[in-house]
Amino acid sequence: MTRKVNRYSKLRGEISPPGDKSISHRALILNSVANGEAKITNLAPGGDVRKSTARCLVHLGAIISMDSSMPDTAIVHGRGIDGLREPARVLYAGNSGTTIRLLMGLLAAGSFLSIITGDSSLRARPMDRVVQPLRSMGAEIWGRDHDRLAPLAINGRRLRGIDYTLPIPSAQLKSAILIAGLFAEGKTTIRELAHSRDHTERLLCAMGVKIDSNDDSITVIPPDTSLTSIDMCIPGDISSAACWLVAGAIHPNAHITVRNVGVNPTRTGIIDVLMLMGAKLKITNQHMEGGEPIADITVESSDLRGTQISGELIPRLIDEIPLIAVAASAAQGKTTIYNAKELRVKESDRIATTAEELSKLGAKIQEMPDGMVIHGSRSLRGALCRSHNDHRLAMAIAIAGLITTGEQTRVHQDNAVCISYPTFWEDLDKLGGE
Ligand code: S3P
Repeated sequence: MTRKVNRYSKLRGEISPPGDKSISHRALILNSVANGEAKITNLAPGGDVRKSTARCLVHLGAIISMDSSMPDTAIVHGRGIDGLREPARVLYAGNSGTTIRLLMGLLAAGSFLSIITGDSSLRARPMDRVVQPLRSMGAEIWGRDHDRLAPLAINGRRLRGIDYTLPIPSAQLKSAILIAGLFAEGKTTIRELAHSRDHTERLLCAMGVKIDSNDDSITVIPPDTSLTSIDMCIPGDISSAACWLVAGAIHPNAHITVRNVGVNPTRTGIIDVLMLMGAKLKITNQHMEGGEPIADITVESSDLRGTQISGELIPRLIDEIPLIAVAASAAQGKTTIYNAKELRVKESDRIATTAEELSKLGAKIQEMPDGMVIHGSRSLRGALCRSHNDHRLAMAIAIAGLITTGEQTRVHQDNAVCISYPTFWEDLDKLGGE
């Protein structure tokens, strides 16, 4: 379907974004191999968590109850890793890189054979980055294209701990190794060149696992007993909240408060960058919940200026770069984004697709091998754009569409948003006063 983006004269009000997708995957996976019952509230509503991760776990024998009378809640009945069994069918991770990569770590340690695959986008994304370290832990894994691509066949083995330096700052890769390390013989140490999101480490600590982390490394010591199940209320997803932070900053008549947003420092690059660009942001009501920091964020119409984004900042805002490109297009001056080659292997090639689609709206974006240069202060005009079936791109185009002139912006394949934010279009109408 194609959706027209309404150009509201003002954007006002409060939004509670959906539960964090990254934390939700981890809450389901780790509680499935813990001992006991966990009640998870504010679970991410999108397809990546509900369809991909939850269904794969159920096919592996996990017991996860979700009741339509309480749509945000899941009850996970964990029975340790031995509660998992050989799946009778091919596991389908859909569009979700986090599902396939985190589950690879678990499947490598199970005592059974499994086959896991995904949609055409996921089947084109590199898996060798996870295959290699898991193999050095003793896992048996085969895949297409010399074991680089899904479908993957994984024969669970008794694993041994490793000391491994991540070649790329990837939380999916780090988490796959940490999860495998939980069930390995001896400790596993991971070294990161730049810090990626640390939700796995935080949750494991909360579940009673000994994790030693410092600036250079993270070590997991396999516990003698099963993990302890943990009830959780998942914080709001900062990657979804980012839509409203950018919308509020670029719209000429906006005042938006986003409530209960997870503000884990490994995810708040978007706040830092918007502030550097001159956005009027206010962070209030900061508190901790389940080992994760949470806050409310208020944004008002702002005069943005260009900035430079590279290095250690990149993993802290990797999913927000299409939205940052929108903010940069509306800002005065030039914005440069470097060291973000990883964007080439996301749900779409986000350097190419962001440049292609925002250019249709009149943005001036120069594609670079590992980033982009955006020449701001262009007035954007409405056009027909494609989401490339990429949820983040669909939402970024919609936010840009709010400040276009001329014909209305249209987003082809608008339901891509359902991967992470099924109520995105309703929330946009709500802020617009409809
Ligand atoms: C995620 C990590 C990031 C991010 C993805 C979710 C996670 O990927 O882009 O949307 O939940 O661990 P990488 O770790 O591969 O960069």
